[in-house]
Amino acid sequence: MAGAYILGIESSCDETAAAVVYSGERLVSNVVFSQIAAHQPYGGVVPELASREHLKAIVPVVRKALADAGQTYQSIDALAVTQGPGLAGALLVGIGYAKALAFALDKPLIAVNHLEGHIHSVLLEERQNNNRPITFPVLALVVSGGHTHLYLVEEKDQHWSYQNIGHTRDDAAGEAFDKVAKLLGLGYPGGPVIDRLSTHGDPAAVKFAASQLKHRDRNDKSDAGAGPRFDFSYSGIKTSVLRYVEIQGMQASIEARRKALAGIEKPALQDYLLHCDKQTLNLVASFQRALVSDLVTKTLAAARACNAATLFVTGGVAANNELRQRFEQDAAMEGLPVYFPSRPLSTDNAAMIAAAAYPKFLTREFAPMDFSAEAGMALR
Ligand code: KG4
Ligand code: ZN
Repeated sequence: MAGAYILGIESSCDETAAAVVYSGERLVSNVVFSQIAAHQPYGGVVPELASREHLKAIVPVVRKALADAGQTYQSIDALAVTQGPGLAGALLVGIGYAKALAFALDKPLIAVNHLEGHIHSVLLEERQNNNRPITFPVLALVVSGGHTHLYLVEEKDQHWSYQNIGHTRDDAAGEAFDKVAKLLGLGYPGGPVIDRLSTHGDPAAVKFAASQLKHRDRNDKSDAGAGPRFDFSYSGIKTSVLRYVEIQGMQASIEARRKALAGIEKPALQDYLLHCDKQTLNLVASFQRALVSDLVTKTLAAARACNAATLFVTGGVAANNELRQRFEQDAAMEGLPVYFPSRPLSTDNAAMIAAAAYPKFLTREFAPMDFSAEAGMALR
């Protein structure tokens, strides 16, 4: 089997990233330039701003990834770039640059689905750290700011296939974290701050009804087939938090907190705690508990129904402490092995893109020079 150094490039959302991975099994370098500071004043990602930030960062980020790896443009074996899903303008920056490099260097270029990348971040680290054999079928929960998907994953002769058996009907889980943080005056992104604040509140203080999805998703145009579906829904819980805030008259204290935190350049946990009363901490902890319980319960039900042998949990929200603990505990009770990426590889990065590209390198699945970004790209 041919070994290969693959340079991965990722620009689908608000991280400009480049990495070098050897044969999908060894992380050689990993550079992530986060645009959070640019988007923070707007409380979310501004697509136009994201494209401009990618344009500024992409050349130095790629140069650093090569330098950190002790590689050069000439010494790498292939390039890989995210084709979608993501923001069209942001994706085009990475794709345009990767195409130009591949053409100038006369190296193969591999187009990778961002969601496939999240799944391969788990495989990359598992090969690198433990190298235990993975038993199939794998059920993969990809849970991030833009996505909440369940895939049944199979592999045969380096060909990976993915069957979507569930997705969110409305907001992604990470989006719910971000929107709740925004409405509570906690800034952007919401996941990391809610994660840290939750341990300071009572998760049983506020009751949220679990989302009930009684009908199949009539808007689902994917190749879902007739099998059972395990869909999610997170816009209801965000609205419940908003109702609670209104009923409890919390708006004035939220505004005060928003102002106070806006004046601090990089708020630390102590700053957040100083500006959060007990009621807010209880609300945050209860929200996180409800969302995590729903994700874990539905995913484990899907794993049972599909006879999954292994569970992967990946994507930005997989960095969440309570989510990891609950999955580890509940999956262990069912004898189901569960794998997560390390926290740096849970959120967006290019190592996962380079890792997912390696099987395609082996089967010579190279991208034609006229391929373009696919903002709504499905994973199959
Ligand atoms: O995978 P990612 O970097 O980008 C997308 O593909 O969307 O995920 C970013 C999302 C954001 O919504 C962020 O709030 C969430 O992941 N996130 C977390 C945590 N860290 C990041 N959510 C919950 N707990 C965390 N510790
Ligand atoms: Zn992602």
